[in-house]
Amino acid sequence: MAILITGGAGYIGSHTCVELLNAGYEIVVLDNFINSKPEAIKRITEITGCTFKFYYNDLLDKKSLEEIFLENKIEAVIHFAGLKAVGESVYIPLQYYHNNILSTLVLCETMKKYNVKKLVFSSSATVYGAPEKCPISENSPLRALNPYGRTKLMIEEILQDLYVSDTNWSISILRYFNPIGAHESGQIGEDPHGVPNNLMPYIAQVAIGKLKELNVFGDQYSTNDGTGVRDYIHVVDLALGHLRALEKVTYSTGIEVYNLGTGKGYSVLEMISAFEIASGKKIPYKIVDPRPGDVAVCYADPVKAMESLGWIAKKGINEMCEDAWRWQNKNKNGYEKNLHIESPHFIPSEDFLIRSK
Ligand code: NAD
Ligand code: UD1
Repeated sequence: MAILITGGAGYIGSHTCVELLNAGYEIVVLDNFINSKPEAIKRITEITGCTFKFYYNDLLDKKSLEEIFLENKIEAVIHFAGLKAVGESVYIPLQYYHNNILSTLVLCETMKKYNVKKLVFSSSATVYGAPEKCPISENSPLRALNPYGRTKLMIEEILQDLYVSDTNWSISILRYFNPIGAHESGQIGEDPHGVPNNLMPYIAQVAIGKLKELNVFGDQYSTNDGTGVRDYIHVVDLALGHLRALEKVTYSTGIEVYNLGTGKGYSVLEMISAFEIASGKKIPYKIVDPRPGDVAVCYADPVKAMESLGWIAKKGINEMCEDAWRWQNKNKNGYEKNLHIESPHFIPSEDFLIRSK
């Protein structure tokens, strides 16, 4: 029995693949590399010493997805695939709705057809919009503020409707706070296209000398030092949260939503300072206007995940910065090496990938 991982070449997916393989799971991975590189798949095998089936497919391609279900005994699905850049989603909303929502519909229809009803879905704290209070619990009001956020909210609603229609489904919706850091090996990490939008990859690229200085978006918020506060979570802790959610959907039915965050907030200036210590590099910065749409403070109430999943984030801010720096330092230009892909459907092997463990 195997776990299908959609979007497994991406930032969070690749770290989750490593943890699943380390825990002895058989995995089948699907990705179309729209926001990732084949090299990530190769590195997963290098870190773990494990092989697995990889499908170079678009999740929107229903026929190819059906082939995956026919060729493998899929027991459950962890669904990471999706477009995720908030700013971009404002400019190309149709692509975001098309890719994120339609691919989830295709996935769920196919799962239903093949009687696979265990699903872990990547949602986001973005569904809380501008939170009225922190820490944010799962039953806080929901309000997405941009097309990306609305795709997450709509998918959450679709999954709720699906469960109402058939209570044999077992679904965990995971609302991530701010994933940062990298695997301790420095072999896999976050590899944004172009200039990063998010704080941690931006700081890391300043530290390595690719970017001149960090723009700090506002210092007049009602926070300790006036800069925005967020709940940063180590991507490996986040990955482990998926293993706990997978256990949950495997052994019970129902639909549940969980915050995956640490419950602690750090300001932009605190993050700069922690990164300077971790890297031994000075991070030049200047204060600029606030970024439209940003909230002052956002951090999770993670108690539900602790009580129901037995999961808690263990890694602190120093480890997050050290690991992010190791990844950046070892991979100045991310996964620059781009492997040649021959088939649009399935990459059989050689030094790239292997069909079974
Ligand atoms: P990512 O972009 O690194 O990974 C997503 C992967 O999905 C990529 O490898 C991409 O190529 C693939 N993909 C996208 N559309 C696809 C399609 N139609 N068919 C096949 N593959 C497709 O993003 P990530 O940071 O790893 O995020 C994973 C999930 O978690 C996403 O759904 C994202 O919205 C969500 N999320 C991420 C964050 C974050 O800060 N990184 C926060 C909250 C939620
Ligand atoms: C962003 C997304 C959010 C998504 C989250 C995790 C926006 C508006 N929101 O949130 O939907 O769920 O990423 O992927 O994009 N900052 C700077 N300078 C920078 C970059 C960021 O000062 O160059 C500040 C921001 O103002 C914020 C903090 O750093 O206070 C974190 O920003 P970021 O990493 O972009 O995450 P979020 O804003 O939480």
